[in-house]
Amino acid sequence: MAFVVAVAQRKGGAGKSTLAANLAAAFAGQGERVALLDTDPQKTLGHWHAARGRSPRASVLDFEAPSGWRVPGAADRYRRSHDVILLDTPPHDDTDARIAIRAADLVLVPLQPSAADLWAMGATLDLAKAEKKRVALALNRVPAQGRVAQEVAEALRAQGLTLLDASLGNRTGYATAFASGLGVTEAAPRSVAADEVRALAAAVRGLARR
Ligand SMILES: Nc1ncnc2c1ncn2[C@@H]1O[C@H](COP(=O)(O)OP(=O)(O)OP(=O)(O)O)[C@@H](O)[C@H]1O
Ligand SMILES: [Mg+2]
Repeated sequence: MAFVVAVAQRKGGAGKSTLAANLAAAFAGQGERVALLDTDPQKTLGHWHAARGRSPRASVLDFEAPSGWRVPGAADRYRRSHDVILLDTPPHDDTDARIAIRAADLVLVPLQPSAADLWAMGATLDLAKAEKKRVALALNRVPAQGRVAQEVAEALRAQGLTLLDASLGNRTGYATAFASGLGVTEAAPRSVAADEVRALAAAVRGLARR
C-alpha cells in the first residue's frame, strides 16, 4: 500500500511544489513507484512535469493533475500499485487543501523560518487536526548564516510539533532544477541540495513505518 503524503501550507511560496517535486524525483530515483498529484489550480507541477518529459535524466513517475472532488479517486487508483503518492496542494484554499489532507496518511508542512510562514501554518495544522492526520514540519530555504532557523526549530519543538531533522537550504539549484522539470537529485546528484533532498526523503520514509 502506498504511503500518501499531502504537502500543505496555507502560506503561498513556502515551498510546497518544490518539496513535492523533489521528493517525487528522489523516491523515483531510488526505484520506488511514485505517483505525483498536482491538486493546485496554478498547475505548477503540471508545467514542471511537461518540462520533465524532455529530459533524459528524469526517473519514471506517474503524474496527474486532478481537480477538487476528483482527488480522492485519483489517490485511490494508485494506492495499491504504488509505494508513495505525493499530493501538492494550493495555498489559501482551505477547501481543496482539506480534500487532499483527507486522502493522506501524512501532512508534510514546509515552512520558511519566518514569522509569516509560522502564522499561516496554524490554519494548516488545524485542518490536519480536524481530519485526524499526522503532521510533520520541514524547514525550507534555511539561510546559510545566522541562528534564525535554529530558534524557529526550538520554538516548534517546544510546542510539541514534529519537525523533521532534514531541512532544505536556500539554494538557487532548487529553482534551476525545477525549471528543467527535474529534482535536484537528478539535475545535480552530487550537490549539497541533492544530499538535503535525499535526507528529507529518508525522514519522510521513516514516518511511513510508524
Ligand atoms: N530551498 C529553496 N531554495 C531556493 N529557492 C526556493 C527553495 N524552495 C523554494 N524556492 C523558490 O521559492 C519559490 C516558491 O516555491 P514553491 O513554488 O515551491 O512554493 P509553493 O508553496 O508551492 O508556492 P504556492 O503557494 O504558490 O504554490 C519558487 O520560485 C522556488 O523556486
Ligand atoms: Mg505550489
